[in-house]
Amino acid sequence: MKTVKDIKLSDGRVLVRVDFNVPLDKSGQITDDTRIRRSLPTLEYALANNAKILIASHLGRPKGKVMREFSLAPAAKCLGDLIGKAVILAPDCIGPETERLASSMMPGDIVMLENLRFHEGEQQNDDEFARDLASLCDVYVNDAFAVSHRANASVVAITRHVVDCVAGFLLKKELDYFDQAMTHPERPLAAVIGGAKVSSKLVALENMMRRVDMIMIGGAMANTFLMGSGIDMGRSRVEPELFETAANVIKIAAEKNIRFFLPVDVVVAPALDADAPIQVVPVNKMPKDQMALDIGPATIAHYTKALSDSKTVVWNGPMGAFEIKPFAKGTDALVHCIADIDALTIVGGGDTGLAVHNSGRADDVSYISTGGGAFLTLLEGRPLPAVAALIEAESRRGSID
Ligand code: 3PG
Repeated sequence: MKTVKDIKLSDGRVLVRVDFNVPLDKSGQITDDTRIRRSLPTLEYALANNAKILIASHLGRPKGKVMREFSLAPAAKCLGDLIGKAVILAPDCIGPETERLASSMMPGDIVMLENLRFHEGEQQNDDEFARDLASLCDVYVNDAFAVSHRANASVVAITRHVVDCVAGFLLKKELDYFDQAMTHPERPLAAVIGGAKVSSKLVALENMMRRVDMIMIGGAMANTFLMGSGIDMGRSRVEPELFETAANVIKIAAEKNIRFFLPVDVVVAPALDADAPIQVVPVNKMPKDQMALDIGPATIAHYTKALSDSKTVVWNGPMGAFEIKPFAKGTDALVHCIADIDALTIVGGGDTGLAVHNSGRADDVSYISTGGGAFLTLLEGRPLPAVAALIEAESRRGSID
């Protein structure tokens, strides 16, 4: 896939699609600017090459309506501070005023288009909306890995209307790391899968069973696997309709000689509450009136030992209700484990990335993906529509040349 390095940017209007879908607090302040920081290499490269930079992003789910609380103004301000240059916020992402603003840009100027999702056409992958966006630029750059699983106009349809379409550094890096881990891994390859629901990870689990050597399960989804294996998990969160499926996954793993790890002990409490009394119990001694909210110390020891033998680790989903301190130990211990081992370690998904950042070990992990849904789509073995569109545009361009 071609990147910004393979194309002339100077003096041209370069539209960079980023994913600045960042969390905001009630007063509209950005609480985590990671996604903005991660777009800097591409934007700085475009700046150094005298491009006129137009930045496009969505924020939240305003569903085609202009909603001030979803304005990209805080992101424009944050980017301006990080890049040390004024970032002008256009009143809209398309339309006459934005066109005027774009056509008056000088090399080195940065204009941020207002939220793409203020228009229905964005999520409908509407061709006319894409054409209007495309008319603003000479070169299109997709650096928005985190939204590349969505067939939206600014990542798919737009590629039919701009001749020069390339990837940004972040998109390329995300795909390269994933490829290294899942397609050409140094073995043993371990998958650590957590989170609340088996249902949301089932396709990913099935796909990963074609590739991995071991799987460690954590989070509430482990309860469904344990119940499916005949262990009573008391009042723990489970998906009863998936007991049989979960048991089948374990069976398939055994047939394929995949080491499949489930918790052997758990941290339990009567409620998901920081002040609730907690205790550690083996899973086969689960009290009827309690719920499992984290993996226990024996499980941590098992998982840590197995992970220390692996050469590649892919992790998606926390091991417990890590946002509440008494139930954060399992996730935190695994962060430290993968940060300490000598392996390629890739973490994806908003919660898991946050857990790594919170524990202060972000620099010791090989790669933290900016994607949630996009990362999961890759784990499921499904193509990303935006990446497919970029590759198609590149081959169209190749046949013009
Ligand atoms: C994300 O945060 O995962 C992406 O920005 C996609 O957002 P969406 O789930 O609202 O499409």
